Amino acid sequence: MKKYQTIEDTIGATPLVRLQRIPGDAGEPRGNVILAKLEGNNPAGSVKDRAASSMIRQAEARGEIKPGDTLIEATSGNTGIALAMTAAVRGYKMILIMPDNLSVERRASMTAYGAELILTPAKEGGMEYARDLADKMQADGKGKVLDQFANADNPLAHIETTGPELWQQTDGQITHFVSAMGTTGTIMGVGQYLRSKNSAIQVVGAQPAEGSQIPGIRKWPEAYQPKIYQPKQVDQFELISQDEAETMARRLAAEEGIFGGISSAGALVAATRVAAQVSNATIVFIVCDRGDRYLSTGVFN
Ligand SMILES: Cc1ncc(COP(=O)(O)O)c(C=O)c1O
Repeated sequence: MKKYQTIEDTIGATPLVRLQRIPGDAGEPRGNVILAKLEGNNPAGSVKDRAASSMIRQAEARGEIKPGDTLIEATSGNTGIALAMTAAVRGYKMILIMPDNLSVERRASMTAYGAELILTPAKEGGMEYARDLADKMQADGKGKVLDQFANADNPLAHIETTGPELWQQTDGQITHFVSAMGTTGTIMGVGQYLRSKNSAIQVVGAQPAEGSQIPGIRKWPEAYQPKIYQPKQVDQFELISQDEAETMARRLAAEEGIFGGISSAGALVAATRVAAQVSNATIVFIVCDRGDRYLSTGVFN
């Protein structure tokens, strides 16, 4: 019998598309191209499908977990949805802990995949509080925490898949890689792979400016910096205001027909800043997820 793909097999191999209008004078006139890697095309709708599948598959391969076990994760959203999908495919129970101020679409998607949700009061400290609670539940024997912030299988997903895809899709022409930074799994993994192919490739990280809220990404306080994060692997940091990211998210949809999330647009703001400074560059930014995930926030109204 023909062996058909599972839904998990369809993770990755996402399209890379050229922006036509937003780069403006920083684009073609300077010999630059800005390319969007459409991670919203993954089956559970974000770049996190790669990391979630990698963390569960690798833990399973090492014999640390087996189907039927309970997994626990503190997540700001996309990882939770991706883990809930992968847990459903592989037969795990999934408990997700998230601050109660994150969008309703995210919560509903997680429960649709059968995950149990624990909402923590955002005013108690947001993700830091959620992460502490996950650790406590694991200590109490309630399940295994995958800990995307410290789990090497998170960046590994990008060393094994996203990085090689970008190298191939650009025929090795990529000069700049731009990503929003949450757990930093994407930027660490893709950066490491691309540098192994060409050490001149510049890795640019987008972070929210002081006082700005951009879902999924953070400029972490020192004590909570992800363990997988190695600051030296990032050549350039760009601080993006919430207003810049939201305005760009609307432009990306209306001017390019790419309906991405707010952090994706933040990465594009960083990519356009880079483009204005360089020439003959092939600049790739990650569209982490789709705009539909943010409709209830009113940002596209
Ligand atoms: C919307 C969104 N953007 C960006 C990121 C950042 O990805 P990474 O965790 O790989 O740094 C995330 C991660 O959770 C996310 O959910």
